[in-house]
Amino acid sequence: MNDKASKAAIGSRDAGSASVRTMSSKSKAAVYDSLRGALRELIADQTDFLANISNFAALLFGGLPNLNWAGFYLLRGSDLVLGPFQGKPACSCIAMGDGVCGTAALQRAAVLVPNVHAFPGHIVCDEASQSEMVIPVFKDSRLIGVLDLDSPQLARFDDTDREHIEALLRLLMDGTDVPEFRLAPPD
Ligand code: SME
Repeated sequence: MNDKASKAAIGSRDAGSASVRTMSSKSKAAVYDSLRGALRELIADQTDFLANISNFAALLFGGLPNLNWAGFYLLRGSDLVLGPFQGKPACSCIAMGDGVCGTAALQRAAVLVPNVHAFPGHIVCDEASQSEMVIPVFKDSRLIGVLDLDSPQLARFDDTDREHIEALLRLLMDGTDVPEFRLAPPD
């Protein structure tokens, strides 16, 4: 691990330990500040797509409390194919419009699911999951795929989490080169 990756890893551990239980809004802001700093370090000298999104999944999984899965589904034609993630092995392909992931991709908008058992068409990958948040990922306004976060806690995610994670994704994508074949055609 180089110096920057090492510092970023320490930053993400600190972010996680500051927030083991329910995060107050103040500690939540501190956790996301720490994650932003760690992400800046991780991508400072690296623009490779797979390297950066792999580290991003690991950063969130290690730094946010109460997650059992964190990772990407990447657009391939009209399907979402499993990308870098942390957690249990998961379904490898989700059609556009299916499940929470396909819904967020189709709508090009985040979907927060406080109780996955109440979401029609939810796709079960890890039975521990109780709530879920899926956020579309864009490069220069073109869809690449989605980021999926699962929690064993009901109603784990709120709009504050969404806003912070959308900001982290913008930072990630601004510093990452995305191969043309991974991008959806321009609207
Ligand atoms: N629950 C997701 C499937 C992916 S896993 O949770 C990792 C969905 O309904 O799209």
